[in-house]
Amino acid sequence: MQSFIEGLPKVELHLHIEGTLEPELMFKLAERNRVQLSYKTIEEVRKAYQFNNLQTFLDIYYQGAQVLQNEQDFYDLAWAYFSKAHSQNVRHAEIFFDPQTHTARGIPFETVISGLRKAQEDAEQKTGLSSRLIMCFLRHLSPEEALDTLEEAKPFRKWITGVGLDSSEQGRPPALFQKVYEQAEAAGFLPVAHAGEEGPAEYVWEALQLLKSRRIDHGVRSTDDPELIQYLIREQIPLTVCPLSNIKLRVFQTMKEHNLRRMLQMGVCVTINSDDPAYFGGYMNENFLAAQRDLELTKDELVKLSANAIKASFIDENARQVLTAELNEYYRKNV
Ligand code: ADE
Ligand code: ZN
Repeated sequence: MQSFIEGLPKVELHLHIEGTLEPELMFKLAERNRVQLSYKTIEEVRKAYQFNNLQTFLDIYYQGAQVLQNEQDFYDLAWAYFSKAHSQNVRHAEIFFDPQTHTARGIPFETVISGLRKAQEDAEQKTGLSSRLIMCFLRHLSPEEALDTLEEAKPFRKWITGVGLDSSEQGRPPALFQKVYEQAEAAGFLPVAHAGEEGPAEYVWEALQLLKSRRIDHGVRSTDDPELIQYLIREQIPLTVCPLSNIKLRVFQTMKEHNLRRMLQMGVCVTINSDDPAYFGGYMNENFLAAQRDLELTKDELVKLSANAIKASFIDENARQVLTAELNEYYRKNV
């Protein structure tokens, strides 16, 4: 099973680039930019990564992002992710970035996106790994600040495929961000949103109905509402599920209790993703492996998860066909 998962062609749809900051790179950038960290050693950093819920994680995650200051830093961050993803047979990745985490510290939007963009170009040219960027609005900040961020993004529209909504979910319903999503859609950005991670199934309905979200990031609490689950199945709305993240943030107490396989068997278009791999203990392979082991996923189910991700991605039809053909070939040879 391990080698089957490692060789499986994969597509990642839920990955925060700031969440790929490994402690080694954090220390290197802290030194390069003369940023004082509150940790003395890499071991100390890893020990601090014990979370009780989403907020305890976010507090540490935003702190880590402070070491990112120059275009080269964003390039190095993204390049490290692309190298890792390529080594795990990820063929295409749709990557979230949080501009407000940086612009709030005085880092220009252009610095962030230029570094990411150059790494995307190099990754595609040198490894064949294609990628897209999805800009997230931080939902703990105001809708007005999200509108300002959208304006800053417009000159870079051609480099940004979609908009997303992340950060603290509880008490921050999608409805707050309806206006900025309307404007984003009018400008050509494809809408997605985090919903139903810690927040209720009602937030998934809002993301679909008010934000016109094309996919739901996480969405695991959708099973609380049978009508919603039937809707997701009927409309084939993809859920970008992140197994290790859900355990680390105690959305489920153990992997055996995770509802991923149950949703897959019901016919929901679920996918496996890594969310913030530097913080949650693993990239795509580790997420697939942990879910396979504890939920006893079959090879057919693993291939279905990859096929769902291809179907749910924002790549063009030609690339979708190439990826599908590769996956079918892998299935024929290995199942
Ligand atoms: N930002 C980074 N990871 C996140 C997650 N799992 N939920 C919400 N916001 C996030
Ligand atoms: Zn996320």
